[in-house]
Parts: sequence; C-alpha cells; structure tokens
Amino acid sequence: MKNKNIVLTGREVTLDANEQIVSKTDLSGRITYANRAFMHLCDFAEPDLLGVQHNIVRHPEMPRGVYQMMWETLQAGQEFFGFVKNLTANGDHYWVFANVTPDREPGGEVVGYFSVRRKPSARGVQTAAALYAEMLAAERQAGPARAMEASRALLAARLGGQSYERFVLALQLGKA
Ligand SMILES: Cc1cc2nc3c(=O)[nH]c(=O)nc-3n(C[C@H](O)[C@H](O)[C@H](O)COP(=O)(O)O)c2cc1C
Repeated sequence: MKNKNIVLTGREVTLDANEQIVSKTDLSGRITYANRAFMHLCDFAEPDLLGVQHNIVRHPEMPRGVYQMMWETLQAGQEFFGFVKNLTANGDHYWVFANVTPDREPGGEVVGYFSVRRKPSARGVQTAAALYAEMLAAERQAGPARAMEASRALLAARLGGQSYERFVLALQLGKA
C-alpha cells in the first residue's frame, strides 16, 4: 500500500460479471489511461491516477513475489494472467482476474503495458487468497534480502511443476 494514510476497512467491493476494468501504463508502470469502470471501482478520479505509479492501488496483502513474476513475464514480451487484490481510495478492496499485456507499436516495439481485468471466479479468489497469505508469510519470515527467493520457492512448491498461468486460467475458467 503506497498511501500509508489509508485505513483498511475490510469491506469488499465487486465488479459486475460483464464489466471490464482497463488501465494502461508506460514502461515503468506509470498510469497513462484508466477507463470509467476502473475509476468508478477504485474511487479515484482521472487526475489522481494519470502519471502516477500503478502501485497506488496496491494492497498490503499482495506478496511482492507476484509482482516480480508479473514484471518478469512482461519484460520477456509475454502476457501475464493472475488474481490480484487491490485497494480503493477509501480503504475498501476488490479482487480481479487480470490479463496484463505488452502494448506494442505497429513495428513491434513495446511502448507500455495494458491490463484488462474481469470479475474473478469465487474459487480463484479463495485459492489465491490462501496462496498469497502463505507467500506473504514466507516473505516476512525470510526478511527483505531473501524475501523474493522464499516467496518464489513457496509458489513453485505449491504449483508442483505447473506454470502459474495454467494454474490461474484453470481456476478462472472452472477447470481446476
Ligand atoms: C499495466 C499494469 C497494470 C498494473 N496493475 C496493478 C494493479 O492493479 N495493482 C497493483 O498493485 N499493481 C499493479 N501493477 C504493478 C505495479 O506497477 C507495481 O509493480 C506493484 O503494485 C508493486 O509495487 P511495489 O513494488 O511498489 O510494491 C500493474 C503494472 C502494470 C504494468
């Protein structure tokens, strides 16, 4: 959570099944576009978001290891799928199933990223919440210098050889 003044309410807000939350960023993760559904759900106005790092909606219960994996995937030129818990401006939270993709110019050069999020499956949220709690505990126990290593090792152990992408897609599409 980057806004340290936000008090967590523990209240969950949800997306409608047909709603899509969209944002775009530059290469460093600074927001360059947010659609109305995104602003409505997170309760930030456009001027609060544009030019600001996307961690403005970061929830403190999200493990660092998930974002490390997301950035590795994007920087390898691939798209990332995952369950994400975010904060709203007033300290409520919401879960999404996110698809984050490199944003390419016609020539193929990556100029930023965009994320489209949909309502997550209940099973996906339940499974991700338990997994992320374990990852977060591993990060805290390992301390800052070894947090990522511990978090990723725990994730790999829980995935049992499966990729994170296959794991989350199966949960979202009801095939897990
Ligand atoms: C297109 C795009 C969308 C992102 N969406 C989110 C998001 O919804 N919530 C979030 O916490 N981080 C999101 N991030 C990741 C953030 O940039 C950042 O890596 C993350 O919040 C961790 O921040 P920290 O390293 O400062 O703790 C997104 C990044 C990109 C490129």
